Amino acid sequence: MSSTHSIEHIRARLASAGQEHLLAFESELSAQQRASLLAQIDAIDLEHLPELIEKYVAGKPDFAPPGKIEPAPYYPAPKPDGSQSGRRWDPQRFRSAGEELIAAGRVACFVVAGGQGSRLGYDGPKGCFPGGAVSGKPLFQIFAEGIRANQRRYGSTIPWYIMTSPLNHQPTVEFFQQNDFFGLEPDNVSFFPQGVMPSFDLKTGKILLAEKHEVATNPDGHGGSLKALFVSGALDDMRTRGVEHISYFQVDNPLVKVVDPVFVGLHATASDSSGEMSSKMLPKRDPEEKVGVFVMADGRLQMIEYSDLPPELAKERDSGGALRFNAGNPAIHMLGVSFVEKLNEDPRFALPFHRAEKKVPHVDVQSGERVDPSSPNGVKLERFVFDALQLAERSIVLETDRVEEFAPIKNAEGVDSPESSARIQTERAARWLQRVGVSVPMKGEEPDCTIEIGPLTALEPSDLDPSRVDGPIGAGSKIVL
Ligand code: UD1
Repeated sequence: MSSTHSIEHIRARLASAGQEHLLAFESELSAQQRASLLAQIDAIDLEHLPELIEKYVAGKPDFAPPGKIEPAPYYPAPKPDGSQSGRRWDPQRFRSAGEELIAAGRVACFVVAGGQGSRLGYDGPKGCFPGGAVSGKPLFQIFAEGIRANQRRYGSTIPWYIMTSPLNHQPTVEFFQQNDFFGLEPDNVSFFPQGVMPSFDLKTGKILLAEKHEVATNPDGHGGSLKALFVSGALDDMRTRGVEHISYFQVDNPLVKVVDPVFVGLHATASDSSGEMSSKMLPKRDPEEKVGVFVMADGRLQMIEYSDLPPELAKERDSGGALRFNAGNPAIHMLGVSFVEKLNEDPRFALPFHRAEKKVPHVDVQSGERVDPSSPNGVKLERFVFDALQLAERSIVLETDRVEEFAPIKNAEGVDSPESSARIQTERAARWLQRVGVSVPMKGEEPDCTIEIGPLTALEPSDLDPSRVDGPIGAGSKIVL
């Protein structure tokens, strides 16, 4: 096929989708730029585009709350002193089941690291951001050390899959190469980019051009991971290695347990779990906290985004005064390898899109000038992984403790910032040290120091050796263990 023919063919397809402006600068492009632009256009599902634009860009799909919403049942967090409230269960039994699976090499780690991190204002893959409260260790290093510590403990290999996006794939891979994979075996670390979606003009529904030869795109959301795991061959690799379950976490949380034997055990062996997709939950701080909540709707577990939960339900309290809909989402899941395979075997499998209005820099098709908008001018479409919960037969939720497991870095300052994360990391470290008899200087309720405990030192308090702390910890000091 000659290039003229293919251009004409593509122009006709674009015209029927109302997107012929994408070739507005075609005559100015070099042969290489033209070929690249045509390849990008070719990757867009032009046939279904008008329908998609109609539904999500021109229209704002209304969220229809499911008929009957009940709070999601969950396994209450095991308390350090062994006490329990709510549903009775035996954490030890599930821990042993999970440990067996990890020791047998049946569990892999999976981090979604394709996001753009624009809120943090950091110019690079978010996993390279210094996340350690004192050491400033990059987030990727903290996870790598968590994996190494678990491999050492269980005497097995825990392969690690890292989802990037086409925008940050290369720098992510290079970061690992430059840092000798943070002590992991390179063969056991895989990287693959997620898919992208074109970004649309908010007013006209036209696809924006990032450059004269480049379509503006955005990563297709963490929900894109379920397809990317399949398309990239990661699922096949897991099968070859005998992996059956995937420990899923986000790149922004340095306190995440990269694998948690109790959670693995519940997901894989509890009678009310189909071993397909399980979730952790955090009790919401207050009705207004901006986290999605797990609910039971029409007999199935679902996540409802905070903006979609009717305010009267968000405020409802039980007889003890606790929020009824309290199961906040820290974005930590277990996924069955066969579940993700099953979803992908269905050619119609697609999670719904969610729409976000964002600032999208672009080239104006009339003037050819660059536009750097100061207010949202574009629509980005993303898929969310938790929408797959409804596709699981039986899905369990495990409560977790905020201080033990959730210190995300999302914003440059304030809530969920490097500073708030360091405070929570310190609070956890102080708690662990006090539990083994080391005293920590306090100012009121808060530790009066900054402490970071690396995963290679301790995965839990009982791993700590109090004699490693040199003398008393001074007020205002910064220590790394
Ligand atoms: C997310 C959840 C929210 C939850 C919170 C917990 C959504 C819509 N909301 O919010 O319910 O309470 O985390 O921390 O998810 N990512 C990709 N590819 C993408 C988009 C995102 O890999 O295309 C990754 C990011 O790198 C990051 C994670 O997904 O690791 C979260 O993305 P982000 O958009 O920051 O979600 P939040 O708004 O923080």
